Amino acid sequence: GTTLKAAAERSGRYFGAAMGRDRLSDSGFLTIANREFDMMTAVNEMKPDATEPNQGQFSFAAGDAIYNWAVQHGMRVRGHTLAWHAQQPRFWGSLSGSALRSAMIEHINGVMAHYRGKLAYWDVVNEAFAENGSRRSSNLQSTGNDWIEVAFRTARAADPSVKLCYNDYNIENWSYAKTQGVYNMIRDFKARGVPIDCVGLQTHFTGGSSLPSNFQTTLSSFAALDVDVALTEADVTNAATNQYQGLTQACMNVPRCVGITTWGIRDSDSWRGSENPLLFDRNSNPKAAYSAVLNALNAA
Ligand code: G3I
Repeated sequence: GTTLKAAAERSGRYFGAAMGRDRLSDSGFLTIANREFDMMTAVNEMKPDATEPNQGQFSFAAGDAIYNWAVQHGMRVRGHTLAWHAQQPRFWGSLSGSALRSAMIEHINGVMAHYRGKLAYWDVVNEAFAENGSRRSSNLQSTGNDWIEVAFRTARAADPSVKLCYNDYNIENWSYAKTQGVYNMIRDFKARGVPIDCVGLQTHFTGGSSLPSNFQTTLSSFAALDVDVALTEADVTNAATNQYQGLTQACMNVPRCVGITTWGIRDSDSWRGSENPLLFDRNSNPKAAYSAVLNALNAA
């Protein structure tokens, strides 16, 4: 394959990117997106604060704009995200206990009804673990430890067609406590029949030696629990070629690694822009890391 998506599709995988609504008027971005990518994630537009700014008042214009552009250009879409400690609707901040729990359920139902049958994946819950492997404290966690499984059960009922993912960062290193915390939750969910289909590893790598040598072990260990895995927000400090090559190779070596998404396309799109962490430079030119990724995809 001569593009990221063509190379990924050789092995039945996708290659995705994330975009904000403002990129819909950025022809440089759109040209690369259309050429290279076959999966799209909205950076902010499908998050709880964006989709339900006021209780029971849903707002889908921004998310739909991204969705429609992506689908019109032959892409699939990952939904991101339904329940998270950050970017919550302001009204969640004045709720707690059973009222907040109900608001979360109603949010999941409302958003998933709108996108029912349309999305490939939903990040149902995002970033619910602390670095030490215990649950992150948050207003949602305070509604009871079962909030995550309630979110997944609600999601399955709301749209049985979409794959339901748990998504987090710093769960790439198999030896890390947070990785083990998430792993134990997924294992428990599978054992008890809580519906979950996939784990998203954000894959925000920092520093020259940041790709854990056991990253592939993490992917295969999650996969052994009978879930798909995906690299959902990949970026690497200074786009180190060996790191990008390694993370791509790790995915290609694990049959249930379904695809890789980078969090933006050009360095100028990145939340870590000063670190130049993406595959294309500010002038839309592919960087060395682009060739490393493309070659790793084609080697499979
Ligand atoms: O839209 C407002 C604008 O009106 C205002 O003038 C400006 C002033 O700061 O803020 C704008 O909103 C910003 C928004 O991005 C859109 O650019 C928010 O402040 C800013 O906090 C928000 O950041 C987003 C961040 O999530 C918030 O948590 C990033 O774009 C987005 O890339 C980032 O994505 C997260 C994933 O969802 C989860 N994993 C980590 C990843 C990176 O942080």
